[in-house]
Amino acid sequence: MHARDTIHIEKPVRIPLIVGNWKMNKTPSEAAAFIRDLLERLTPSPKTDVVLTPPFTSLESASKALGPSSWINLGAQNLHWEQQGAFTGEVSASMLRELNCRYVIVGHSERRMLFGERDETIQKKVRAALVQGLAPILCVGESLAEREAGKATSAVTAQLDVNLAGLAQQELASVIIAYEPVWAIGTGRAATTEQAVAVHQSIRSFVEAGWNSTTAAAIRILYGGSVTPQNAESLLASEAIDGALVGGACLNPDSFATIVRIAQTRRA
Ligand code: PGA
Repeated sequence: MHARDTIHIEKPVRIPLIVGNWKMNKTPSEAAAFIRDLLERLTPSPKTDVVLTPPFTSLESASKALGPSSWINLGAQNLHWEQQGAFTGEVSASMLRELNCRYVIVGHSERRMLFGERDETIQKKVRAALVQGLAPILCVGESLAEREAGKATSAVTAQLDVNLAGLAQQELASVIIAYEPVWAIGTGRAATTEQAVAVHQSIRSFVEAGWNSTTAAAIRILYGGSVTPQNAESLLASEAIDGALVGGACLNPDSFATIVRIAQTRRA
């Protein structure tokens, strides 16, 4: 057999992605100062993608502080599914695109719990983001009661079942899934690496069953919920975990930069 006859089945490279979810923090001037500080602490690396998601009102100053061809990308924390119209207080995907956003968080548990977002609404948002060229970072996760009842995996896949309904393979390829157990968000009680890996594997199996193994192998699945510089090493060392959605620890430039560096230097 000649070398050129050999069939190489390449494992897809899932570049780690670290997302900083600022939530309702940082004014435009604070955002600019934070980004200047962060850029001094970090060295770009093709081995890790980094996304910052400031509040809507700080996107423009964040974009300016990052500069026109920054290696750090911008995302928003929410969007409306319609393009424009009489939707007081809402922001559309095209508005976000014009502020240089490439990503958008969809279905965060705070949106689900505090603002009544339902799975069907989240599905419309995922679709609207994709149609407008934004990569949705879709958040799913079980409550403490669901975990204690042994229903963590089924709760997560029930969300995904609705949130990803009807997506074609090419569309799903642009989706990032963030597994965020509700009991771990902002509590200081992160999931163990084993707990996260088990759910990540079931998410990948769900994608394989609903679409195919190529899509399942390529989709990035992040972990979120009390990620810190202390636990990032263990979480990111696992092959099943493709990055982190960081809340509290992303507000401090030192701790966020440390988490990014851990991702940049993880397995060769
Ligand atoms: P946390 O938040 O890191 O503060 O737990 C994560 C998130 O809500 O995305």
